This record gives sequence, structure tokens and C-alpha cells, in this order.
Amino acid sequence: MSEGAYVIVGASLAGAKAAETLRAEGFTGPVVLIGAESELPYERPALSKDYLQGKSPRDKIFVHPEQWYTEHDIELRLGVPVTGVDPAAHRVMLAVGGSQSYAKLLLSTGSAPRRLPVPGADLDDVMYLRTVQDSDRIKTALKSASRVVVIGAGWIGLETAAAARTAGAEVTVLEALALPLLRVLGPETARVFAELHRDHGVDMRFEIGVAEITGRAGRATGVRLTDGTEVDADLVIVGVGIAPNTQLADAAGLAVSNGIVVGADLVSSNPDIYAAGDVASAFNPLFGKHIRLEHWANALNQAPAAARSLLGQPVSYDRVPYFYTDQYDLGMEYSGYVEPGGYDKVVFRGDAAAREFIAFWLDAGSRVLAGMNVNIWDVNDAIQALVKSGQPVDPDALRDPAVDLAGLA
Ligand SMILES: Cc1cc2nc3c(=O)[nH]c(=O)nc-3n(C[C@H](O)[C@H](O)[C@H](O)COP(=O)(O)OP(=O)(O)OC[C@H]3O[C@@H](n4cnc5c(N)ncnc54)[C@H](O)[C@@H]3O)c2cc1C
Ligand SMILES: NC(=O)c1ccc[n+]([C@@H]2O[C@H](COP(=O)([O-])OP(=O)(O)OC[C@H]3O[C@@H](n4cnc5c(N)ncnc54)[C@H](O)[C@@H]3O)[C@@H](O)[C@H]2O)c1
Repeated sequence: MSEGAYVIVGASLAGAKAAETLRAEGFTGPVVLIGAESELPYERPALSKDYLQGKSPRDKIFVHPEQWYTEHDIELRLGVPVTGVDPAAHRVMLAVGGSQSYAKLLLSTGSAPRRLPVPGADLDDVMYLRTVQDSDRIKTALKSASRVVVIGAGWIGLETAAAARTAGAEVTVLEALALPLLRVLGPETARVFAELHRDHGVDMRFEIGVAEITGRAGRATGVRLTDGTEVDADLVIVGVGIAPNTQLADAAGLAVSNGIVVGADLVSSNPDIYAAGDVASAFNPLFGKHIRLEHWANALNQAPAAARSLLGQPVSYDRVPYFYTDQYDLGMEYSGYVEPGGYDKVVFRGDAAAREFIAFWLDAGSRVLAGMNVNIWDVNDAIQALVKSGQPVDPDALRDPAVDLAGLA
């Protein structure tokens, strides 16, 4: 076991990018990357898109090939859940027995799907999607499923609904709120996603409550709603959100509040423990508050910043949040950050009905909080610049396609 090591717990995108950065920045001491999953560190976005639809191969999901870790002298310990952190002794405890000492520790333990607390949720054919094995299972099930019910119209729900429709199944989406993605987007643009799926033949049902997943002989047969309605299904996919994996931080006495609380330097309430990725609630100076992001770009960029902070470099992570989706023929990018209802108005440039537009979320002072480009490309840098500037912008100029966005920023 390496003494005085820089130890990273959580070997997915954030963990692998942090290890990569430690070496890229010239750190020559021991680096130990410990992960509960047995797979090499991999990226998840394709698991609900191309990979799930059989359009991209498995080897494309990995952050690095296996030999990369050897070449960069990174001790990769896979299939090894960490069961505890002892900050006083500077050690992490391993499920396989024994412990690993650390000089500095990065927690990049990510998040896990929330479970649906209803009878029948443990039946076969009720599937969640977080890991590559989950994606493989759903991919196999989609080959024979004819009636798919998706519970939750968030990112997982909508992307898997698109995959299931594309595979030829009848699809019903059941969502608790009045529209899909409502908390993230607000009603003005959430409608676009409801229409998109309806236009592709998905039965979208809103403001429903799920009472039970019905079954026979251990197999799911449908979903019963709280109003008594029954929807038949031979496959049920559940995407009702995630919770950050804060158990280690909680037990170690670190400050935790909707994620491991870290500053803009990504240091936790313990000076030798850092956090990044889905699990971190990080102070973002741009927005003046702690934000926990559940997106690929955050793991990709925040973890290298955390690694630089581990190395003692000055770090103030203030990137504009970014995410994207692909559903059927709709491609979208979103930059910025808006809490549910935390905006004054939405301004559109382009044709929302034709699903070719940019939407801007403005505050009462006409500052751009976020922007989303749908089936329009090469504008996201300008959107990020508008968000970053924090300056008021004339809404009519945002609306007018003749006005150059980069110039406005
Ligand atoms: C199907 C799917 C599609 C997605 N698509 C997109 C997308 O299109 N765009 C986008 O922006 N985002 C997308 N996301 C979100 C994105 O994948 C996450 O934000 C990203 O994976 C976060 O990376 P992470 O490394 O912080 O955490 P995770 O990817 O959750 O990885 C954490 C790792 O830590 C391990 N771990 C946890 N606890 C322990 C422990 N005690 N000991 C050891 N190891 C532990 C876990 O097993 C896991 O391997 C998608 C997510 C999913 C599931
Ligand atoms: N393109 C992307 O950025 C992308 C793609 C896939 C996954 N992800 C990430 O994966 C994680 C999980 O995604 P997700 O879709 O599960 O979460 P989510 O938070 O995006 O959406 C969950 C949805 O489920 C609904 N819901 C909650 N409880 C319900 C219930 N009992 N019945 C019906 N509906 C219910 C919510 O109202 C919400 O619309 C998130 O972190 C997400 O950001 C991102």
C-alpha cells in the first residue's frame, strides 16, 4: 500500500480526470484510484443514447484504455468499495479488508438513482439506469419489449423513451409534475419536449401518481396509478432522480448539505479532503452560491480543478454549467444555471414550434442566467459569454436573429 498517497475514491469520469490531471501537472508521488465498480472508469452519457440504441461500441465509453493507467503509474483498484474514511488517521477503509493511507483525499463518489417506494418496484423488468450493466440489461429487454412504461420525465426518462420508441415499442411516460423537465427548464421550454415525444407517438401523461407496479410470476405486467388507472407494460424503466453518494462524508463528519460542501477551491470542511463531480456541492463565485451539478461537463472540468487544488495551486472554480441531450432528431445544449422558478422571463430566438431555436432565461434586470440552443449549433460559446458577463442585455436584440450573439456578449 502506497504511503503518503493522493487517493481518489470513485473511479468514474471525475475520478479518472482528477488522476489524469495530477500526472499532467507533474505530480510524481503515488496516486491511488479506488472504485466500487469493476469496469475501467467510463462515461455515462452514451448509456441512455447511442450505446443503448446499439449505435456505438462499448470500448468508446471508457475514459482511458487499461494500459493508460499503468503507463501513468496510477494504481487502479477496481471492484473495491470504500467503507469508511478516518480523517484523523488519514486512512480509507476498504470492503475487501485493510485500509489505504492518504496524504490528500478526493471524494468523487457520484450519485445513485432514487428508488421508487411502491409495491412491485422489485419485480423483474423494473429497471433503473446508472451503470453500463443497467444499460446492457435495458438494451436486451428492448429487443423483445412491446409495451414500455417510463416513470419520470427527466433526462433518463426522456432519453430512454426515445430509445424505446426508436426500437419500435409502444411507450407511455408517467410524470408527477405538469410537464417533462419542469424543474430544470420551466414551462416555456419544457413544452417543447412534451411535444417532441408526442410527435414521436409517445403517450405522455402528467400529474400522475404511481401506486403500484403490478406483476405476475415475478414479472412486471403494468403500472397502477393512484387514480386507479392501469397501464400495461412488459418493461418498466424508472428515472425519478438521483441522490449524491455522501455516505462516506457523512460518517466522516464532513459538512454535507445536498452533497459534500466544498468551497470554490473544492476543499471540504476537512483541509485534506476534497470533492468534485455529482457528489460535490461547490461554491460557484459566478452565481455566489453553492451549486451541486449532475452533469458530465461538471465531472469533466471540476475534477481537474480539484486535482490542481490538491497540488496546492490556487483554484477558484467558476465555470458556467453546461449540459446537452439528444432525443430523436433533437440535439440541444444548455449553458447557465437557473433554480426552479428563479427567472423573470424566457426570450426565444428562432422557431420553437419547428424545434430550431435559442431560448434565453433572463432575470428582472435582463441579465442572461442561461441559454439553450436547440438544433442550432456553434452558438454555445456566445451563450456562455453572455451568462458570464452578468451584464443586462436588450431582450429585443436577443430575439433578433440578425443580431450577432458573440457581439452582444
Ligand atoms: C444514463 C446516463 C446518461 C447521462 N447523460 C448525460 C448527458 O447526456 N449529459 C450530461 O451532462 N450528463 C449526463 N449524465 C450525468 C453524468 O453521467 C454524471 O453527471 C457523471 O457521471 C458524474 O460523474 P462522477 O464521476 O461525478 O460520478 P459517477 O459517474 O456517479 O461515478 C461515481 C463513481 O464512484 C463510485 N463509488 C461510489 N461510492 C463509492 C465508494 N464508497 N467506494 C468506491 N467507489 C465508490 C461509483 O461506483 C461510481 O463508479 C448521464 C448519467 C446517466 C446515468
Ligand atoms: N442529458 C443529460 O444531461 C442527462 C441524461 C441522462 C441522465 N442525466 C443525469 O442523470 C441523473 C438522473 O436522471 P433522472 O432523469 O432520473 O433525474 P431528473 O431529476 O432529471 O428527473 C426525474 C423526474 O422524475 C420525476 N419524478 C420524481 N418522482 C416521481 C414519481 N414518483 N413518479 C413520477 N415521476 C416522478 C421528477 O418530477 C422529474 O421530472 C440526473 O443527474 C441527470 O442530470 C443527465
